[in-house]
Amino acid sequence: MDLTSEGDTLCLNRDAPWDSFDSQSYMQHNYSALRTDDEEIINVVRDYFSDHFRTNPERPVSGIDVGAGANLYPAFSLLPWCDQITLYERSAQNAAWLRNQVPRYDDSWAPFWQVLCKEEEYQDITDPRARFKHSVTVEEGDLFRLPERLRNQGVGTMFFVAESLSTSHREFEGAVAAFIGSLAPGAPFAAAFMENSGGYWVGDDLFPACEVGSAEVEASLDPHATVKTLRRFGLPEGPVREGYTGMILACGRRDPA
Ligand SMILES: C[S@@+](CC[C@H](N)C(=O)[O-])C[C@H]1O[C@@H](n2cnc3c(N)ncnc32)[C@H](O)[C@@H]1O
Repeated sequence: MDLTSEGDTLCLNRDAPWDSFDSQSYMQHNYSALRTDDEEIINVVRDYFSDHFRTNPERPVSGIDVGAGANLYPAFSLLPWCDQITLYERSAQNAAWLRNQVPRYDDSWAPFWQVLCKEEEYQDITDPRARFKHSVTVEEGDLFRLPERLRNQGVGTMFFVAESLSTSHREFEGAVAAFIGSLAPGAPFAAAFMENSGGYWVGDDLFPACEVGSAEVEASLDPHATVKTLRRFGLPEGPVREGYTGMILACGRRDPA
């Protein structure tokens, strides 16, 4: 499909103002308190990774959170299984925000960690701040140009990125493929998506999104991965912002080579 066939209101990934992303405003708006929908997502991710690594005990592995932005909970979900976690992020602002959190993340993240601690592998980490500081590296870069050395990860997460980086369904599919391409064959992942997002404001900037539902998420993963869990979450507390209808979570494994 030619990009131009998607319509003339296309805003591609390269067109959006990533380097002026207001990380603090995004974090305040979305993650200053733990919402019920994020809690439900964390419950499923925690149980999925815990079950996976119980039956596949090879670890530690390396992990990646693609498009980490100003959200630490996907990286938290990787902590028990990884000796090295890369937070890969295109926006210079978000990379700087993340680097600032690595030595000592803010107290407001403690409730997110507590949800993970319902499983014993997370409870076993007595000092999550020290473990985070020790394990996490922030790397600025474009997921469409992921370096070869980052392409064999043992576990990965990508939250609210593939559908939230342009209005192009072709780029959505490309971003999902690039994320799965960062994983070793058989490696587990968790990926979350905003459902039917029409774009989002961060501070004074409008960022693009493309509208996807469970069918599009499933179709984007199908050529590369086996999905074990596909869940849609409604909006029990109402939307965190205008312009979307729910959240979708997919957990699964990259297909063998
Ligand atoms: C809606 S935010 C999601 C942030 C975070 N993962 C979360 O769960 O809230 C989208 C993120 O994707 C990042 N991003 C956009 N295009 C990217 C690209 N080509 N490569 C890597 N990250 C990208 C943005 O900078 C931003 O941090």
